[in-house]
Amino acid sequence: MEKAKLHLESQIIELPIVTGTMGEKGIDITNLRNESGFITLDNGYQNTGSCKSSITFVDGEKGILKYRGVDISELAEKAMFTEVAYLLINGTFPNAEEKKIFSTQLTENSMLHEDMIKFFHSVPPTAHPMAILSTMVNAMSIFYPQYFVEQQNDDVYKLMAARLISKIRTIAAFSYKKSIGDPFVYPRHDLRYCGNFLNMMFHSPVKPYEISPEAERLMNMLLILHADHEQNCSTSTVRLVGSSKVNLYSSVCAGICALWGPLHGGANQEVIEMLEHIKKTNMSIKSVIENAKDKNSTFKLSGFGHRVYKNFDPRMKILKKEAQAFLAKRKISDPLMNIALELEEAALKDDFFIERGLYPNVDFYSGILYREMGFPTDMFTVLFAMGRMPGWIAQWKEMHDSVPFKIGRPRQIYIGPKEAHYPESQ
Ligand code: CMC
Repeated sequence: MEKAKLHLESQIIELPIVTGTMGEKGIDITNLRNESGFITLDNGYQNTGSCKSSITFVDGEKGILKYRGVDISELAEKAMFTEVAYLLINGTFPNAEEKKIFSTQLTENSMLHEDMIKFFHSVPPTAHPMAILSTMVNAMSIFYPQYFVEQQNDDVYKLMAARLISKIRTIAAFSYKKSIGDPFVYPRHDLRYCGNFLNMMFHSPVKPYEISPEAERLMNMLLILHADHEQNCSTSTVRLVGSSKVNLYSSVCAGICALWGPLHGGANQEVIEMLEHIKKTNMSIKSVIENAKDKNSTFKLSGFGHRVYKNFDPRMKILKKEAQAFLAKRKISDPLMNIALELEEAALKDDFFIERGLYPNVDFYSGILYREMGFPTDMFTVLFAMGRMPGWIAQWKEMHDSVPFKIGRPRQIYIGPKEAHYPESQ
């Protein structure tokens, strides 16, 4: 086995080198503290591998993203989201029989428990749909209590996975209906995954919704592009929370909360709000770029930059092309799209962005499409969560199946006072 040699004070510590199937190398420091007393320190886990995984591969330098070895562009063009969900969770594409079983499970689990629906009635209309989504997903552990030992049973796990993937779309659509005061539209058993969701979102008794094949195709593609992204903030959260052996619903609920933040999935909402602000205030592209570079300003270009991608984000390329084609086909001149294109062009010519490898990410153009499809801005991150659900589930399972299984528990370097006391008199 290849070993790395670490010269530490007077010792030389040998550390095993781990090589992945795509040639990535890591140094296994599991025993470093036992052997030397040292830990490694890596603020924000910028260079720390937390697991070995066979689910998703990302090469940030080359802009490659693969699920179970299949390139994202191939999946986005050819696959159904439900097939991709199956692939992520089970490791292989479903055969005809497996597809039928999975599809039946999704259909049978699409409804919400009627008592759960009552929860929606206590939610104020101003609530953000991400807050509703995380609450309702965690509430699934009230309605479908399943404990850790049971979850290790393959059939129970598969049922829970189908339940989550199916119900998240009903919860998402109901939270939207609640926010606009419309009656809920129940899932229909004759519709496919995306069409069913679009119908629950947009159908109304006074304005029937016609599901267009194009809307269904776009929804399917958008969900696939978001389905997994290896050890990002929300997925690592799901793994960390799940490592305490809490149930799957609560683990993914934590992932939803992590995703909501504007540095992560919440960026898709921020991008559109930023573009709208630029349009409304008539800001010049130059001043936006200068503001984003200004160290004294808290403003960042939303939808730009990525911890892993330093060249381009392959998901963004697909989304940009789709958004442009969508607008061109309908002869729409979207002012927000025009601002986005100008911003991208200006940033990519600017040394600040070039030196730091800052490119548009998945969130930069997705909102333009969501908006054109009729989704309100505050639903964008919910759509990201719907797409990411199979990835979270697959990662949760892989973590539990790993040998040896370990609770997630990082260390720290303490920098507080050496000794302090309770004040004698207050
Ligand atoms: N606008 C302006 N400057 C930026 C930006 C940006 N969007 N992103 C990074 N920088 C600068 C940053 O100020 C820093 O500069 P310096 O080296 O002078 O201190 C440098 O680039 C490195 O940035 P960082 O914040 O240390 O990088 P990170 O890997 O810790 O953070 C990030 C990655 C995505 C949080 C960050 O790029 C960011 O805040 N982007 C905007 C929010 C966003 O679009 N998030 C969505 C991410 S993709 C979808 C997902 O998976 O969630």
